[in-house]
Amino acid sequence: MATIASARSNTPDQSDATAHADRNGQKVEAAAVPVSDAVQAARDYADHALSAAADVPEIRQATARPLTHTGIIGGGTMGAGIAVAMLDAGLHVVMVEQDDAALARGRGRVEAVYDRLIVRDRMTPAEKKDRMAHFKGATAYAALSNADLIVEAVFEDLAVKAEVFKQIDRFAKPGAILATNTSYLDIDRIAQATGRPADVLGLHFFSPANIMKLLEVVVAAQTSPTAVATGFALAKRLRKTPVRAGVCDGFIGNRILAAYRHAADLMMEDGASPYDIDDAVRAFGYPMGPYQVVDLAGGDIGWATRKRRAPTRDPQARYVEIADRLCEQGWFGQKTGRGFYRYAEGARTGTHDPDVLTVVDAERTRAGVTPRNFTAGQIMRRYMAAMINEAANVLHDGIALRPSDVDAVFLAGYGFPRDRGGPLFYADTVGVKQVLADIESFADEDPRFWRASPLLLELAKRDATFASLNTPSR
Ligand code: NAI
Repeated sequence: MATIASARSNTPDQSDATAHADRNGQKVEAAAVPVSDAVQAARDYADHALSAAADVPEIRQATARPLTHTGIIGGGTMGAGIAVAMLDAGLHVVMVEQDDAALARGRGRVEAVYDRLIVRDRMTPAEKKDRMAHFKGATAYAALSNADLIVEAVFEDLAVKAEVFKQIDRFAKPGAILATNTSYLDIDRIAQATGRPADVLGLHFFSPANIMKLLEVVVAAQTSPTAVATGFALAKRLRKTPVRAGVCDGFIGNRILAAYRHAADLMMEDGASPYDIDDAVRAFGYPMGPYQVVDLAGGDIGWATRKRRAPTRDPQARYVEIADRLCEQGWFGQKTGRGFYRYAEGARTGTHDPDVLTVVDAERTRAGVTPRNFTAGQIMRRYMAAMINEAANVLHDGIALRPSDVDAVFLAGYGFPRDRGGPLFYADTVGVKQVLADIESFADEDPRFWRASPLLLELAKRDATFASLNTPSR
């Protein structure tokens, strides 16, 4: 499953006063739109959740190490975006790539970000020159010897990352913080490739890394409070929203995403079209539906992950192959002109594709499914139940410190509508008992997938809310 946070690019301005540009390009604040008490309460809560996430125990136990020089390994999509984020915050960057050609491409990606700003009159060539003066490229790890913090952003492959961390360990100075941007891999195993696991943590940026606010700070078994405190200090410096996460497959955001995406795929095979699902999700308040997001991020990313995981997939669990069929035809989304939608040359908004519906129909037949109708309300009930249930598992497993941290992840990284507070705030507005009743009714048809989280069961039994678990960190 891809890390799909790019919904940001279409996130509507959700501030009370709608900003728009006047003829001179100046931002103008329109009159505040009155909102209901419920919406105001959700917005207030969302703002609180986003700032409360920065309060973690480690920042009281340790002092962040000073940061001036950073190293970034890998100059692909993420490495380049992270480099821009660092440069924009006034930090020095050394980018290490495999060879000169890859390094030139990495540097080119960084420059392209600034060139686009220059074209739009949001940066001057002199400002670009200043930023790039802090950027150096290298193809040897020795160039990292001065870095206070190193972020690895190479291919998502444990063997490759372990080898990279072995090299980092050889050349990084004592006390350097060593971070991986992995989306899913086991950071404990990555840390073991070094002789200094206390300095290793996950810094999970979201794409585009220079713009997206969310930064999951992933704390592995041996990560020191100092490393965590430094991760949070970096986030502040980059003006990002840090959220503390534990190690598991997908951390907070991508683990929960996998669950509700699976629920969406099941509905698609059972009778809802991808367009019905996207429409329902947008009507709920998201800027984009899940299949639009796949098309934006590139269907091939999720496809590669699914293929990698195929050997360990539960053979008894339902697996929906529709997305694989599309990828087999080379339909990867916007970049190939078609995916779940069709895109005219250069268009970012797609149109419905009858060929996709033919594929969906064929897959329903192959799976022996008799399609049935889903209303938008029924779609959202399942989508949100899957999200809330996995969020409860994430809390139960100690991966997130508190419910508001889960909400912060979805607000800052996954386009969750601020007017609904966050998935767990929303769960409380629906009622934990109601969510549980939904899950139990869905379980009648698919008990393997719809298994109520122990935490949800416990809250329902005690007639308690998720909000009651939002205690400050100690
Ligand atoms: P990418 O394929 O665009 O870039 C990877 C880069 O690493 C390539 O330029 C490659 O030449 C370089 N590389 C590979 N091995 C290397 C080595 N041994 N030394 C130096 N450079 C090496 O990949 P992308 O998308 O930037 O992803 C990088 C990491 O970030 C992965 O772990 C991925 O899971 C994670 N990630 C990706 C997100 C996304 O939306 N693409 C979001 C969040 C995390």
